[in-house]
Amino acid sequence: MIDKIKALIAEAEAFQAQSTAEVEAFRIKYLGKKGLLNDYFAEFKNVPNDQKKAFGQIINKLKSTAEEKVNALKEELETKEETKGVYGDLSRPGEPIEIGARHPISIVKNQIIDIFSRIGFNVSEGPEIEDDWHNFTALNLPEYHPARDMQDTFFIQTNPDVLLRTHTSSVQVRYMESHKPPIRTISPGRVFRNEAISARSHCFFHQVEGLYIDKDVSFADLKQTLQYFTTEMFGKSKIRLRPSYFPFTEPSAEVDVYWGLETETDYKMTKGTGWLEIMGCGMVDPNVLENCGIDSKEYSGFAFGMGIDRIALLLHQISDIRLLSENDVRFLEQFRSAL
Ligand code: PHE
Repeated sequence: MIDKIKALIAEAEAFQAQSTAEVEAFRIKYLGKKGLLNDYFAEFKNVPNDQKKAFGQIINKLKSTAEEKVNALKEELETKEETKGVYGDLSRPGEPIEIGARHPISIVKNQIIDIFSRIGFNVSEGPEIEDDWHNFTALNLPEYHPARDMQDTFFIQTNPDVLLRTHTSSVQVRYMESHKPPIRTISPGRVFRNEAISARSHCFFHQVEGLYIDKDVSFADLKQTLQYFTTEMFGKSKIRLRPSYFPFTEPSAEVDVYWGLETETDYKMTKGTGWLEIMGCGMVDPNVLENCGIDSKEYSGFAFGMGIDRIALLLHQISDIRLLSENDVRFLEQFRSAL
């Protein structure tokens, strides 16, 4: 019998389990009410007296071996199952996460913000639903001014004072009303115009407008700033300013950048001229400064505005502006950028 118990001890020592259920089965087999140990303890009284000591020792050894085994295995398996529950299998290879692509409008917008923030411009934003004052009147465009027709406007039918902003110049008005010069701010945002939708124009698009106001700001400062911008943005430093008209700037100009005529695409983009019109600009009209509470005798400034969509189409050779608002992932996936 002693040999048999020794074999059981060896068996208990060698026992391994994969689950707590197996450990429990093991416990019942050895230590349970009807388990092996209780059988042997019951046997004890039949053992001859001279063997009782040795027998007692061996079944106690079996008991402690089985108990220790149960405790050790339980602890091991429980901690294993806990970590599994929280983290899963920690040795499993990771799943690759597909990184999304930024919208081409965001890419270009971020590039423009980045370039101007390097020369001290901050970013300002305002509401897309505007009132007449901020979109028109404060900008030297009183009611019935013919230049209002330059931007076909969506009005809210029940209230002609409420409209969808036609440019982010409205944000500049708001900024001037609430900040004192020196002002250096760019205002990116979505704007709306009541135009027929085609491959080349949409009823909403995006702009970045810039405003610089301080003492003694001159047209030369404007030119230098624009040249810095085209060099950083397009790698092109040759620009020209053509006289133009905006009600809120005087003098006003249209800015062209010399793109070159090296490739066939250059020809197509510039209609064979090599020049590309990229924005409007000018010296802020003193009336506008006064409307916004800035003393026009003390301060002067310049402003400029450009369309983000058009630049995105040019830079990425996109043939139809409507693609920018269709949210087709096959189109959007093609744009990868660090910005
Ligand atoms: N607000 C003008 C537009 O939307 C652009 C512009 C801004 C022109 C600032 C001159 C100065 O067309």
